[in-house]
Amino acid sequence: MRLPALPLLLTTGLAAVVQLQERQTLAGSNICSEIASNIAGTVYYALTEEFIDGVYHYMTSSEQTPECVVEVANAQDVSTILKLVGSTRTPFAIKSGGHASNPGFSSTTGVQISVAKITEITLSADKSTVEVGLGNVWTDVYTALQGTGVNVVGGRVEGPGTGGFTLGGGYSWKTDQFGLTCDTIQSYNLVLPNGTITSVDSSTPDLFFALKGGLNRFGIVTSIVMETHAQVDMVYGGLQVFDTGSIEDLIIATQTFQTENTDPKAQVILTINGGTIPGAILLSFYDGPERPAAFDPYNNITAIIDTLEGGNRGAFATLSTTGLTKAYMDAVYNESSFYGALAIVHEGLLLSYDVEPFGDYGQYATDSAYPHNLSQLPLNLYFSWKLAAEDSYWRGIMQQSINHLTQVAMDEGIYSADLYAYPNYALDTYTGAQLYGPTNAARLRTIQAQYDPNGVMELAGGFTF
Ligand SMILES: Cc1cc2nc3c(=O)[nH]c(=O)nc-3n(C[C@H](O)[C@H](O)[C@H](O)COP(=O)(O)OP(=O)(O)OC[C@H]3O[C@@H](n4cnc5c(N)ncnc54)[C@H](O)[C@@H]3O)c2cc1C
Ligand SMILES: *[C@@H]1O[C@H](CO)[C@@H](O)[C@H](O)[C@H]1NC(C)=O
Ligand SMILES: *[C@@H]1O[C@H](CO)[C@@H](O)[C@H](O)[C@H]1NC(C)=O
Ligand SMILES: *[C@@H]1O[C@H](CO)[C@@H](O)[C@H](O)[C@H]1NC(C)=O
Ligand SMILES: *[C@@H]1O[C@H](CO)[C@@H](O)[C@H](O)[C@H]1NC(C)=O
Repeated sequence: MRLPALPLLLTTGLAAVVQLQERQTLAGSNICSEIASNIAGTVYYALTEEFIDGVYHYMTSSEQTPECVVEVANAQDVSTILKLVGSTRTPFAIKSGGHASNPGFSSTTGVQISVAKITEITLSADKSTVEVGLGNVWTDVYTALQGTGVNVVGGRVEGPGTGGFTLGGGYSWKTDQFGLTCDTIQSYNLVLPNGTITSVDSSTPDLFFALKGGLNRFGIVTSIVMETHAQVDMVYGGLQVFDTGSIEDLIIATQTFQTENTDPKAQVILTINGGTIPGAILLSFYDGPERPAAFDPYNNITAIIDTLEGGNRGAFATLSTTGLTKAYMDAVYNESSFYGALAIVHEGLLLSYDVEPFGDYGQYATDSAYPHNLSQLPLNLYFSWKLAAEDSYWRGIMQQSINHLTQVAMDEGIYSADLYAYPNYALDTYTGAQLYGPTNAARLRTIQAQYDPNGVMELAGGFTF
């Protein structure tokens, strides 16, 4: 199929379910009114539309009910709030697109900060950079740049925010051409944990490194200045859904694609699904108008049509490998069907394994908290289920599945102790060393001690280094 210009976007529609609890402490209400009288933005309380938007997450398991939602208007507001929550030791959270897969990483029972109103998208006069407010989702950025002849290295599907996606790393359809999204950032407009508003670029190498994978541990970013690249008018791509009878053929085609593709403009994601609707989904993207020869390995596999599901509880887990072998992908398929068989008993819906056959993108890696100069291939497990009572069951199964696949990867010679887990796909139980490697984790702890001596950002959920 042919799509209009700019990256392929695929919708996964869903509805947020907000569970409203009793308002908690008086202290909580006081901090909200204190914030309200000191900022240009607006504070919202339960049941307003803005409150519900501010609380919304892709996975309901990543949602909590805060005292209030604060839609900040600018960096000055963020500074005021960080000083207030820091001095009163009030739990808080920062949310951009709300696609965090870990509970509490962008939700809180305290003060929910939303950057939704920071929506500027400003192309520089020479079109070489664009400043993007982190209240935007990627679709907003692509729409704004349409017709300009330039584009950015951003999200692959509709939904994720520019905030968490970029601060965790950012795997894009353009990663084989330009690296991760974080490799294309010229500067970050950051509010430090003590409220100081600053700009971080290569002249501040430690913070610049920390923000490339370190997520919300170093302050709140209001906007980013991204490099642009020339964009052709038409791109080719789409989504195909297959039944289980095609999965073996898709595995063989994906192995061929990963080992033989030399065209960095051609990218695919193979999703192998267990659960209530087993099967596979192939997302294809070409940064040009026609189907390239690179996709030939997939030519003879017949697709059916289907839809995706969202708005449920869920989690991500991940494993990085140096390559993809058929036996490894067969084991991935076995995991999806093996645990898929348990879905009905444990209210499971979807057990999805994303195989991402990138090429040599590590050549574009910049000095980043999340090391990626070895061009590792991240596997993304996405499980979803209905009931909170099943949270620990499925999260345990996900880790068990990763452990099993790690063993298979070792047997297959595609495991390396020098590869780490992609932060945006990792379970919250992962340590700094598992996400960043021991050297980078130690460096992050040093930077944290320097810039956040009072542990203000620890009042927000996130990884522990
Ligand atoms: C449907 C779906 C598709 C995805 N596709 C991809 C993909 O193609 N490539 C890829 O790499 N990843 C992908 N992901 C993973 C995604 O990158 C992460 O979930 C990411 O963290 C989401 O960012 P967000 O802003 O939407 O989430 P949020 O929940 O808003 O934030 C995630 C984390 O970032 C922090 N954060 C957000 N904004 C700020 C800020 N302004 N300052 C400081 N910290 C902040 C939050 O506090 C939180 O810890 C996908 C996830 C989903 C659910
Ligand atoms: C697809 O099928 C055609 C006809 O059967 C065959 O000639 C071609 O080689 C096949 N292509 C691939 C990539 O398997
Ligand atoms: C399938 O996966 C399960 C769970 O990891 C494992 O116990 C079993 O040995 C696997 N079977 C095959 C054939 O790989
Ligand atoms: C890759 O990055 C790591 C740390 O991020 C660094 O120690 C290593 O020297 C780099 N390797 C290459 C080949 O650049
Ligand atoms: C805030 O932190 C920065 C970085 O550590 C420091 O340079 C600045 O002096 C601090 N500001 C205040 C008011 O403490």
